Amino acid sequence: MKAAIYTNYGSPEVIQIINTEKPTPKPNEVLVKIKTSSVTRADTMMRQGVPKYGRLFLGLFKPKNTALGTGFSGVVESIGSQVTKFNIGDEVFGEKLFSNGCNAEFLCVSEDLVIEIKPNNISHLEAAPICDGFLTSYNFLKDIADLKQGQHILINGASGSLGSAAVQLAKVMGAKVTAVCSTRNIDFVKSIGADEVIDYTKTSMANIQEKYNVIYDSVGTLSYKDSKKLISSNGVFMTPVLSGQILYRMLFNSKKVKFAATGIKKTEELKRLFLELVDLFKQGKLYTNIDKSYKLSDIADAHHYLETGRKVGNVVIINS
Ligand SMILES: NC(=O)c1ccc[n+]([C@@H]2O[C@H](COP(=O)([O-])OP(=O)(O)OC[C@H]3O[C@@H](n4cnc5c(N)ncnc54)[C@H](OP(=O)(O)O)[C@@H]3O)[C@@H](O)[C@H]2O)c1
Repeated sequence: MKAAIYTNYGSPEVIQIINTEKPTPKPNEVLVKIKTSSVTRADTMMRQGVPKYGRLFLGLFKPKNTALGTGFSGVVESIGSQVTKFNIGDEVFGEKLFSNGCNAEFLCVSEDLVIEIKPNNISHLEAAPICDGFLTSYNFLKDIADLKQGQHILINGASGSLGSAAVQLAKVMGAKVTAVCSTRNIDFVKSIGADEVIDYTKTSMANIQEKYNVIYDSVGTLSYKDSKKLISSNGVFMTPVLSGQILYRMLFNSKKVKFAATGIKKTEELKRLFLELVDLFKQGKLYTNIDKSYKLSDIADAHHYLETGRKVGNVVIINS
């Protein structure tokens, strides 16, 4: 089978497409013939080996795990002897977390990990990226912020993968949403439910007077110094992007400033959130925006596009 790997840190050119042996499922695993897989900002960071402290886990001088791709959607081709939840032919989707390997033609996944039957009302294209933006943002909005009906949330980076998921999730949770994006994405963020929009190319956060129960800086571009006057007295500022300023603020004000790496959450907790998301997708309450799709052989182009920082929603690899 074909698989995308990287054996050194660096630019997208370090990615190679190799021919490798098709994996055989262990007793508790299913073998999935992958139809689509996600390409995410986290994938590009692992490929680059940044931030550098991440190499303590990823491999000091070169990646320990050379496989690429965390999110997948496909069809179960065979099952291990102890598998009880899935059958051959089931359409499934999920994520492989840090063990990766989804940017390939086949993948073995334990039935106990983050994998579920794909709802019929969403395509493989829409399913593969769900564990990036939706699962991450649901963790922030539900488990970290405990966002409540009627609360007001400001979502920065509302046109990205995490941001566009957060806008929709916040609306489902009954919150009022103010989305921050650039001029070209105003119509998009309104179309997915934003109640109010701030165009960051025209309005500085320093000039906003409103107070928010939750500020979710999904792309990590806000200055905490400028934003803190916008947080209500019991409010919270949270971001999935760890920076020096956030680390420093968390040390002194951990109740108000929050960061989390969703991928290292306990599997059973991720599965709980994932199952709730699957249900919301089944009800047609959520929508995955696909910006671009690429063939597996063109995955380096997909990584280049992600690195522009301009994608709107998600980028997906389609296996032919
Ligand atoms: N901690 C975790 O568990 C976790 C999990 C997954 C991802 N992440 C991280 O989360 C971050 C976001 O990922 P993502 O995939 O959602 O990003 P993304 O999709 O690549 O974000 C791109 C979007 O951000 C907008 N944008 C760029 N600069 C902006 C600014 N200054 N203000 C507001 N919007 C801006 C862009 O639109 P315009 O250019 O038109 O503004 C574009 O639509 C990444 O750093 C990723 O590594 C963390």
